[in-house]
Amino acid sequence: MKDAGKLAAEVLNETGRLVRPGVTTLELNDFAHRLTLKRGAESAPLNYRGFPKSICTSINNVVCHGIPKKGETLKEGDIVNLDITVKLDGYHGDTSRTFAVGKISDAAQKLMEDTEKSMWVGIEVVRPGARICDVGDSIDAFLTPKGYGIVRDLCGHGIGRNFHEEPQVPHYKNNGIRSVMRPGMTFTVEPMVNRGSYEVFTDAHDGWTVWTRDKSLSAQFEHTVLVTDDGYEVLTRE
Ligand code: MF3
Ligand code: CO
Ligand code: CO
Repeated sequence: MKDAGKLAAEVLNETGRLVRPGVTTLELNDFAHRLTLKRGAESAPLNYRGFPKSICTSINNVVCHGIPKKGETLKEGDIVNLDITVKLDGYHGDTSRTFAVGKISDAAQKLMEDTEKSMWVGIEVVRPGARICDVGDSIDAFLTPKGYGIVRDLCGHGIGRNFHEEPQVPHYKNNGIRSVMRPGMTFTVEPMVNRGSYEVFTDAHDGWTVWTRDKSLSAQFEHTVLVTDDGYEVLTRE
């Protein structure tokens, strides 16, 4: 899990360096795919439940699961989340960040900063004996007073030999997931945060792309974390 996490972080960092006005989401996909193979790993999203590409690229009011496309060019002022999951020696590492494309609005900048901070306030409660629902309580207490919508239909997740496993890790309060954290557990914390309502819908044509209902901007950050004997370790770091 540590090696897979490190590799996912490397692929995310290297692919993120290519984000600029004019690059296409397919170019980002192909770069990430090749680097993953070069490191002896596989892109976990490719063919996962029929997902057609190797990474997710989610622009502006796309919440997550955006499909990279030929000719889909990033423009100055966009924000784009790159979500990388690698499978190395049978284990998964899953991490994402939202990047600014050139100069962005103050509102978009603030959304990105608050979303990243909310991921950290979620991660910081991780320790043996804490409950999974403590993550969502902590994130919600940070974001809701600021007026954001916390996406409810998609959650963090256990991760290991499987891309997605138990438990679900919701990012909103009072979610009732009372499982207790134990040393050795690995799961993701990956809040999806909207400038408007929390409501989302899935694209009827491609079956994947998740959009905000009210067209508001959405950001996301994700790490894979390990519960240690006295707290947590972030695995998706280089
Ligand atoms: N990486 C996403 C997550 O954080 C899942 C993407 S599923 C895919 O859980 F099929 F769209 F790749
Ligand atoms: Co994930
Ligand atoms: Co992910």
